[in-house]
Parts: sequence; C-alpha cells; structure tokens
Amino acid sequence: MLKKITGGLLSAAILASFSSFALATEDKKAETRIAVSGDPIEALKQASKKIVEDGTLQFSPSYITVPEHRKITPKDWTDPKVCGQCHSRQYKGWKGSMHSNAFTDPVFQAMWAIGEKATNGRFKNHCSGCHTPIGTINGTVKFDPKMGLHGGFTADPIAEKGVSCDVCHSITGTNFTRTATMEHGNGSFIIDPGKIKRGSLKKSTSPFHETAYSPLHTSSQFCGNCHNIFHPVNNFPIERTYDEWKYSIYAQKGIQCMDCHMVSVETAKRVADELKRPHDLVNADTGGLAAVGGPYRKVVHDHQFVGGNAVVTSALNGKKSDNYQAAIKRLQSVASLKLIVEPGKYGLHNLKVKVTNERAGHNLPTSLTEVRQVWVEVIVTDDQNRELFRSGTMDKDTNELPKDTVIFNAHAVDKNGKHTAYPWEITRFLDVNTIPPKGYKYGKYAFNVPPDAKKVKVIARLHYRSFSQGLADLLLGKDKIRIPAVKMSQVDGEYEVRDGKVQVKHKPAEKH
Ligand code: HEC
Ligand code: HEC
Ligand code: HEC
Ligand code: HEC
Ligand code: HEC
Repeated sequence: MLKKITGGLLSAAILASFSSFALATEDKKAETRIAVSGDPIEALKQASKKIVEDGTLQFSPSYITVPEHRKITPKDWTDPKVCGQCHSRQYKGWKGSMHSNAFTDPVFQAMWAIGEKATNGRFKNHCSGCHTPIGTINGTVKFDPKMGLHGGFTADPIAEKGVSCDVCHSITGTNFTRTATMEHGNGSFIIDPGKIKRGSLKKSTSPFHETAYSPLHTSSQFCGNCHNIFHPVNNFPIERTYDEWKYSIYAQKGIQCMDCHMVSVETAKRVADELKRPHDLVNADTGGLAAVGGPYRKVVHDHQFVGGNAVVTSALNGKKSDNYQAAIKRLQSVASLKLIVEPGKYGLHNLKVKVTNERAGHNLPTSLTEVRQVWVEVIVTDDQNRELFRSGTMDKDTNELPKDTVIFNAHAVDKNGKHTAYPWEITRFLDVNTIPPKGYKYGKYAFNVPPDAKKVKVIARLHYRSFSQGLADLLLGKDKIRIPAVKMSQVDGEYEVRDGKVQVKHKPAEKH
C-alpha cells in the first residue's frame, strides 16, 4: 500500500501522517525501524540485532539490499579501468572524482576510525554502506588500529575504488519506504551486480554487457539514497541534500541533481539561471559518444560529480587535476553579494551584506553543514586608509575564523548539548544558518565613521572551505595540511561622506 502512494510528490506532512499510520497498522517491515531509547550504543545494538535476526536488513545499519540476499564476492564486480576501455569519457571524469576517492579519502578514513573505536564497530556498515558499497556487500572491510594516526580501513582492491561504475550501474531500485525518515538515505538502494548495466539510455546495445533502461537513473532519487543521512539510532537527519533539493524550485521545474553535477559548470550555470534542463537549453554543448563505437547522443554525462571539495581533490590528485579546478569554478559560480549601507543608531552606520544562493540546487552549504564553512569577510576603510571595521578575516597564525564571523552552517550538539562534529554523537542542531536555493541571508554589521573622513570603501567577500583548521588538525594531525579558503565572490562599494555621514545615493556594483 505504501509503495503505491509514495510516488515522490507527496508533501512531507502527508508522508508523515501515513508513516505513523503504517507503523501502527500493516507495514510489518516498519517495525524494524530503530527506536530511540536510553544509551544510543545499547539501542543500536538491540536494533541491529533485531534487524539482523529477522533478516530484513542484511548490512545493518546500512539499508543496502541485495535481492534474495545472495552471496556476493569480489569477482562479481568489474574494475572501472575495464569499463574505461570503451567508456573513456566517463572513466576520465570519474577517476579523481570524490566518488572515486570515497573510500581512500583521508579525512573520511580518520573520522571513520575514530567512530569505529567510539562505537565498538557498530557504525562500520553505516559509514561503509555509502563510501564503499562494494566492500560492505563483499564483507571485506577490515579495521587496522595501527594504520595512520587513528587507525584505518582496508578492503579488497575493487572495494577500495569507492563509488565506482559498477556500484551505480548495478542499482535496480530503492527501499526508502522502510527507512526511519520514510525518505531516501542511509544507502536505501537495491543492488544486483552482474551482466546487466543499467542506465538512462533507451535502446542501447553493447558487445560487453547487457543493458537495461532504468528510469531511476534519470532521477534525483537515485542520488538521494546516499546524499541524505540520518543517525541510525536517534533518526536525526544529519545531511539533507536530497530533501533540500526536493523542496526547492529546481525540483518543481523537474531539474535533477544530474542536470548540474553531470554537466560542465558552464552548462550548470545556465540550468540554474534559465531553470531548464540541459537537453532543453539552446546551444548547450552536451552531446557526444556514450561509448566507443556507439551512436552520437544529444546529452552524454560528465562523471566528475564536482561539488566543493578542493581540499581532498588537490591533496590526492594535485592542483592540476580537473576535479580540483572544476571545484573552484563551481564554488565561484554559486552566490551573489549585495551591499546595503544605511544610517543607524548612535551615529553608527549599518552595513548589510546580502548573500543569495543563485545556483546551488540545495542549501548553501549542504550535506556536512556542521563541518563545511561558508562565511562573509568584510573590510571597511576610509580615504586616509584607516581601517574602520573588519570581520571574517582568517587569523594568520591559527588559520581560524574570529568568533564574530557571520558564517552559514549548522551547529551540531551531542545528547548533553555539547558541540560535536562526529556524526555518531549528533542528536540535534542548535542553530541552522544555511541559505536555501534561490534564497538569501544577510550578514549584519555596524561601523563608525571619523568626522574628517571624506570617503568610505567597503569590500565584502564570500569564502568557502571544506572544514576548519582545528578539525583538520584533529583528524589528520597537527600541521599536516593548511586548509585553504576559496573565494566564492566579492563586491566592492565606495561611498561619499559628509559631516561623518555616509551618503547612500548610488547602488554599488554587483559582481557574481
Ligand atoms: C547515506 C550515505 C552516507 C553515510 C551513511 C555516511 N556518509 Fe560520509 N559522506 C557521504 C556523502 C554523500 C559525502 C559527501 C558530502 C559532501 O562532500 O558534501 C560524505 C562525506 C563525508 C566526509 C567528508 C569528507 C571530506 O573530504 O570532506 C566525512 C568525514 C564523512 N563523510 C564521514 C562519514 C562517517 C564517519 C560516516 C559514518 C559514521 C559516514 N560518513 C556515513 C555519504 C555518507
Ligand atoms: C554516482 C553514480 C555513478 C557512477 C559512479 C558512474 N555513473 Fe555512469 N551514470 C550515472 C547516471 C545517474 C547516469 C545517467 C544520467 C542521466 O541520464 O541523467 C549515467 C550515465 C552513464 C552512461 C550513459 C551515457 C552517458 O554518459 O549519459 C554510461 C555509458 C555510463 N554512465 C558509464 C559509466 C562508467 C563507465 C562509469 C565508471 C568509470 C560510471 N558510469 C560511473 C551514474 C554513475
Ligand atoms: C567492449 C566495450 C564496452 C565495455 C568494456 C563496457 N561497455 Fe558499457 N556500453 C558499451 C556500448 C557500445 C554501449 C552502448 C552505448 C550507446 O548506446 O550509446 C554501452 C552502454 C552502457 C551503458 C548504458 C546502458 C543504458 O541502457 O543506459 C552503461 C550504464 C554501461 N555501458 C556501463 C558499463 C560499465 C559499468 C562497464 C564496466 C563494468 C562497461 N559499460 C563496459 C560498450 C562497453
Ligand atoms: C552509493 C552512494 C552514492 C550514490 C548513489 C551517489 N553518491 Fe555522490 N557521493 C557519495 C559519497 C560517499 C561521496 C563523498 C566522498 C567523500 O567526500 O569522501 C559523494 C560525493 C559527491 C559529490 C562531491 C562533493 C564534493 O564535496 O565535492 C557530488 C557532487 C556528488 N556526490 C553528487 C552525486 C550525484 C549527483 C549523484 C546521483 C547521480 C550521486 N552523487 C550518487 C556517495 C554516493
Ligand atoms: C541547480 C544546480 C544544482 C542542482 C540541481 C544540484 N546541485 Fe549540488 N551543487 C551545486 C552547486 C553550485 C554546488 C557548490 C556549492 C555548494 O557547496 O553548495 C553544489 C554542491 C554540492 C555538493 C557539495 C557540498 C559541499 O559543500 O560539500 C554535493 C554533495 C551536491 N551538490 C550534491 C547534490 C545532489 C545529491 C543533488 C540532487 C539532490 C544536487 N546536488 C543538486 C549545484 C546544484
């Protein structure tokens, strides 16, 4: 009954009311959802035990399902290099992408190792279910407490390739109606590796494998299985990229994750500005070959899956790598800034910096909002080069942000209300200050103008970085890496001053 009605377009409210109804009545499987009670580790132990016992979740707490629970071994998967012999374009894009780095990523490995020790290994499949579905399914993921600073993980060679071709092209469906949130997430996909490669091409034939058209591969729901994370014990939604997208104007216009993340940044900009899908854009350069020897296709998909990760892409693949370069470009395409200066109380001047999320199909930032940093830097000077105000400049020594910085992120806490960035400890967010798609937020400031000043100059910049220096030091070791900031956008304004009052006639130029 549930499967029929949850087509994806129902509102959260309706879903929620049906979900409690289902829980109370006929959806037996729903009972396997994990209840919140007492000690989270003990609760997880009980819940995992129950799920494992009644056999509904094979890789608990991950929701990955293999049909009939058949036994899978490393031999059931093909190395991406082999696929790359005919699919050179897709292979070139994927190699060096964060999907190819998903298991080896040192930041992930370090946090996973800390979590492994803190939870006695009970979160292992939770983390590996998305970062190495193949290792999870093969059962080859091993923890070595002696590796690196905190310990590390190994798996069979194909599993170490992370989210690879065969992961995505063997997915046959989703089981999201069984998750605690009744939404995609925590690896809620059904996967069946073998001869058939599933994708979005109708009428495609290959000499190497069978093919099947899969509507799921054309939809954001496909991505949502991994790009939504909830805590497997207390069910708190920690990362909500898919949900954010689902309630955005992009979803209303039928624009999918693929339409921005599987095309060039230039095309993605047009998708966001014109609110049209790539195949509906006039003169977009998206055509090519899906395979050597295949027919010309009007849209073929880049497999770089570029987001904002400029730290790991440059550390693992170098600053010349396409993925690093594209991450910078993507970050510089997202936001616009606008300055508003007004007379304020007590002779002060109010400065507002309006930050608009022009082109991200979800909040800015998204996903690990408790870790990612997007912030405003403001510098106000006068014609005698006196600094009247400054905020959001990173400290030269510590590489950290001053406390009063206007920052767009989420503040996560554990069950005692103490700050934490560890996903297994998070129980709630105290504060969420991310910017919704096509929405805006203000950075608000006040400054004083000396009576003899004739002009005031305002510079505002928006910066991004994947994580704070403190977290990098904790995970990777002190002084291992200095986390850089990427400037996303900047706006400058110059204002005349008369009798200590800023004259606000003209509109400052906007830059994207
Ligand atoms: C439902 C799928 C899923 C699960 C479960 C999951 N992750 Fe992730 N993880 C992701 C995705 C997707 C990203 C990328 C998000 C982004 O870059 O914005 C990510 C990114 C990360 C990053 C950031 C890496 C970087 O280089 O910035 C860390 C750290 C991480 N995960 C740790 C963990 C740990 C530890 C666990 C288990 C407690 C875990 N993840 C469970 C999907 C998952
Ligand atoms: C994260 C999931 C993911 C990974 C990893 C992935 N693909 Fe894809 N691929 C997709 C999706 C989704 C589509 C269809 C996109 C659409 O039509 O909107 C696709 C499309 C394709 C197509 C059809 C032609 C095209 O480009 O549109 C081929 C061929 C293909 N992928 C091969 C590969 C190969 C080879 C690899 C590994 C080097 C790979 N894929 C890795 C998700 C993935
Ligand atoms: C010997 C060459 C060859 C190899 C090796 C190969 N493919 Fe293909 N594949 C093709 C051809 C040709 C097509 C058809 C392209 C078209 O119709 O435009 C194709 C189509 C596809 C499609 C599209 C299916 C659809 O219906 O949407 C996917 C997905 C795919 N391949 C994935 C893979 C993966 C994953 C691997 C590695 C396990 C792989 N291929 C290895 C030649 C190959
Ligand atoms: C099997 C799980 C899985 C699926 C399916 C999946 N992803 Fe991912 N994705 C990940 C993980 C895990 C990471 C992060 C790896 C890391 O940071 O260590 C990631 C990273 C990314 C990033 C890079 C983020 C950054 O910070 O640079 C983008 C963009 C992305 N995925 C988009 C997509 C899109 C679009 C789809 C659907 C076509 C998709 N993903 C499907 C698991 C998945
Ligand atoms: C309209 C274009 C657009 C659509 C649609 C879109 N994105 Fe993004 N995405 C962006 C832009 C631009 C960024 C870089 C800014 C940011 O980090 O938010 C980004 C960043 C990301 C990141 C990296 C976030 C970080 O800071 O670590 C992930 C992961 C991601 N997107 C996944 C997805 C998934 C999954 C979907 C579909 C549910 C999706 N995106 C839909 C444009 C888009």
